Amino acid sequence: MALADFLANLDSLADEAQARFTAAVDAAALEEARVAFLGAKAGKLRQSQKGLGKVPPADKPAAGKRFNEVKTLVEAAFEGAQARLTSGETSSGEAFDVTLPGKARRIGHLHPITQTIRSMKEIMGRLGFTAVEGPEIEDEWHNFEALNIPLVHPARDPLDNFYLGGENAAAEAASPLLLRSQTSTVQIRVMESTPPPVRIISLGRVYRPDTADATHYPMFHQIEGLLVDRGVTMADLKSVLRLFCQSYFGGDNEVHIRFRPSFFPFTEPSVEVDMNWQGGWMEMGGAGMVDPNVLRAVGYDPEEVTGFAFGLGVERVCMRQHGITDIRAIYQNDVRFLEQF
Ligand code: PHE
Repeated sequence: MALADFLANLDSLADEAQARFTAAVDAAALEEARVAFLGAKAGKLRQSQKGLGKVPPADKPAAGKRFNEVKTLVEAAFEGAQARLTSGETSSGEAFDVTLPGKARRIGHLHPITQTIRSMKEIMGRLGFTAVEGPEIEDEWHNFEALNIPLVHPARDPLDNFYLGGENAAAEAASPLLLRSQTSTVQIRVMESTPPPVRIISLGRVYRPDTADATHYPMFHQIEGLLVDRGVTMADLKSVLRLFCQSYFGGDNEVHIRFRPSFFPFTEPSVEVDMNWQGGWMEMGGAGMVDPNVLRAVGYDPEEVTGFAFGLGVERVCMRQHGITDIRAIYQNDVRFLEQF
């Protein structure tokens, strides 16, 4: 046998053995491959070794050298496969590539509304307002009565509120509960439990049975502010709101606040608050001086103290800030949308 043929046989044997050992998926397949290539009697290496005798004497050293190399190679391939199978690293039979990049970990972040709420709290905190919370399930006293919204007022219409049906219909009718329709409820709760002065904000969910569209959602958030003290005036209200908007949106631009006359049962006078925004006016919410009837309802003396209150929409602020045009997107919780903020 010519040296070239001998070497060519050896090379294809090496390739074949390596492929078989790598492809072995379990111990049985590996053993079969071992017998086929390294078997002492009929293994292919053994047969190749017999061919060595037929190579011309002058070529024997070269042929023998290559034979030994291939033998080592095949044995190494066998041992490699054996190690892989016993350590169980991959059962698919593929070689484990340690240089492959790992799976990227995706780190979550706060929901855009939560981010807005946090920065609102932070700004109002700097202005000396303490954040407090109130319940989302309320009674009519806190949601209406104490806020100077009498029984006959249209705001109490069952079609405009989420009244809760109860097990006990009789008790229910006597003191119905509802999902609060405004955070002004928290004004009452704070004043009932604290003597003046008070300086609080409350941020939370409110509920109204509106059909969802681009600007309405049956649940949204408000930021409520309340300051009651001696000698509080409308000028204080305007300064606080201006400072708040300046800090939130202002940057280098000077922020202006505009008041438009309005009506709320719990403030007198009442205003709608607008802020200058990209060449126009953006509605922020309602505000006013706390109505004396409200102060009396919580046991404050309107001759002693006055106060202002405001209620702004959190979603509206968040949407303008980020250029979101449909409120529903905020609550669909599509990660592709949320991860942008
Ligand atoms: N509660 C009012 C609303 O939901 C907003 C408001 C709060 C107005 C405080 C005046 C004072 O529309």
